[in-house]
This record gives sequence, C-alpha cells and structure tokens, in this order.
Amino acid sequence: MTSYRITLLPGDGIGPEITAVARQLLEVVARRHGFSLVFDEQPIGGAGLDATGEPLPASTLAACLGSDAVLLAAIGAPRFDSLPREQRPESGLLALRSGLGLFANLRPVKIIPALIGASSLRPEVINGVDLVVVRELIGGVYFGLPKGRVEAEGRVRAFNTMAYFDDEIDRIARVALALAAQRRGRVCSVDKANVLDVSQLWRDRVEAIHGEYPNVALSHMYVDNAAMQLVRDPRQFDVILTSNLFGDILSDEAAMLTGSIGMLPSASLGSDGPGLFEPVHGSAPDIAGQDRANPMAMVLSAAMMLRLGLHQGAAADDLEAAVDRVLAAGARTGDLASDPSTALGCRAMGDRLLEALAANET
Ligand code: IPM
Ligand code: MG
Repeated sequence: MTSYRITLLPGDGIGPEITAVARQLLEVVARRHGFSLVFDEQPIGGAGLDATGEPLPASTLAACLGSDAVLLAAIGAPRFDSLPREQRPESGLLALRSGLGLFANLRPVKIIPALIGASSLRPEVINGVDLVVVRELIGGVYFGLPKGRVEAEGRVRAFNTMAYFDDEIDRIARVALALAAQRRGRVCSVDKANVLDVSQLWRDRVEAIHGEYPNVALSHMYVDNAAMQLVRDPRQFDVILTSNLFGDILSDEAAMLTGSIGMLPSASLGSDGPGLFEPVHGSAPDIAGQDRANPMAMVLSAAMMLRLGLHQGAAADDLEAAVDRVLAAGARTGDLASDPSTALGCRAMGDRLLEALAANET
C-alpha cells in the first residue's frame, strides 16, 4: 500500500483545533482510497518559540524536508508581538517557505453558491467568481538585500529592497501560464511597471515566457488598478500572476470577495520536494481554545495537499464534496452563520464533515 509521510504543523491559536478535524478526515479518505498517511506533528511559530526558542526549530524544518507534504494550520499569537522581528512567529513561516524553496503560492478564490450572501459585495458582482492568485513567495521585497536600519546625521533611515532575478520571474510565470492553460486560458500579470524598474523586468520576462504558451491570453495591469478591478468586476480574472508583496495584498482583497476567509485554502510549491498547504486565514487568537473555529479552510487545504502534493485527486474530490454537502445542508460555523444561536462549533462541524464523507460512500 502506498504510504505518505505528512508533517503536520498545528502552530498557534485555533491551529490545533482545525488540525485535529483535518487529520480525522484525512484518515478516512486515505483508507477509502487505498493509501496510508503517516503523520508527524511538529511545532512552528509561537509553539516553536515555546518548545525551542526558535519560530522555526531546526528539527521542524528537517521533518518537513523529509516528508511528502506539509500541512500547516496557522501561526501567530499576541504575546509574541513585542519580540524583535526575527523571533516572531511570522519569521518562522517565512523561513519555512524559503527553506523548502516554495516559490509559487496558489490562492484560489471561488464563490461558494451557498455562501454568496456572506460577501460584502452584491451577489450580481461576485456570482461565478473563480480565480487563482499566483503569488511569487520567496523573492521580492520580502527577501531582497540590502535591508536594514541606519542612523546618520541625527536621522534614522530604514529600507528594504524590491528585487527580482530574471530566472525567479521566469519560473513563477511558467506556473501561472501552465495553470491558466488548464483553466480558462487567461493570465493577468500585475505589476507597477509605470514606476518601478523591478516591475519593468517582471513585465519583460512574463512577455518572453508567454511565448512558450501560445494558447494562453496574457494581459498586464498596474497593481492599483488591479486592486480596484477586483472589487469592481472580479469575474474578469482567471489567473492573477504577481510578485510577493502585491500578491500578499491582492490575495487578502480577493479572499474577502467570498466574505468568508474561513473557507479559503492555499498551496505553496517549489520545483521539487514537498509542498506546503495551509488555510489563508490566521490563528484567530480571539477565539482560540473555545471550539468556535471554522475548520473548512483547513479541510480544503488538506484536499489541495491530496491533489497537488500527493496526486490523489479522487480523495481530494471526496473531501471537497463533503464540504459542499454540509454547506448545502445549512451547517454553519460562527463566522458564516447569520443566526449565531445556530452556529456549530469546530468539533461539531468536523462531525458533520465525517458524516457527509460517510454518506458519500459508494
Ligand atoms: C500571508 C501572510 C504572511 C505574508 C505573513 C504572516 C508573514 O500575510 O501568508 O499572506 O505576509 O506572507
Ligand atoms: Mg497576507
């Protein structure tokens, strides 16, 4: 029987609660589809700091590198906010992305019909939205050198560098163009080429790589306009290709089109080695430990892991179908419920998902 090693990173806040739900569901679909999963739980973020003093313990990175896929819940807790940046939970996530070489971050945004009322935008604007943000994840201003803070002549100056090498742009452009070829065949590359040199190189390279994908239509958009178009007419987008910082901002904006950030999964992939799969939402410290979290983005991230990380597409379909079924049946966690008195807790939602999986057995 095929067996996969999965590093589970529950992290902080609601992370452990949603991880427990995803793990149970994964065990069920694995059994049904004839493969086995061996889970190895490791600390990261605040949990890593508590365990070892590092937000990404060396043992956690080593476990991830030795596994077939990594499933992360969420990191971050207010009690670490005053630490210097290298010791904050977020630095653990950045180090993990870079340590695993995960240059491509895929953030699909698809309107779930049962939740259309949860958006702050009108149904006729968002109905049918189905896009993916492809964000470059280990370059750009997040990692560019030099960076720092200097004091001179009585003034303080801090700076970061927004820089890309041509080959860093080429490889992320290929991911977006190849993905679009399997979807509706359109890539919109987002940059700030009217102002930034780094964006001009971005645009030149994306144009050049586009030559390899004659069946994909490529357009370019400035990032300020893209931010506006996302709320004006989001259906115009199929694949949005963009750099690390612009992708960080636009993917939050795009996520909010669905009105339910608790529903959105993501995948981060490198050229080889394990991928990292995680919900787009954070660790929600305000509701941590209260059994109120929505586990569905985590479950959908587990589905992305099955499909893209382990090539077990049928098992991924099963998980996604279970989510659709419970939503269609009206089950809602607190973040989605219009009537809070009917909201399900995290564990109860996990039970509904297990029932929906069992009901789908044929
Ligand atoms: C994200 C997050 C991270 C980022 C933070 C937590 C470092 O906002 O995954 O979008 O900026 O990339
Ligand atoms: Mg972000």
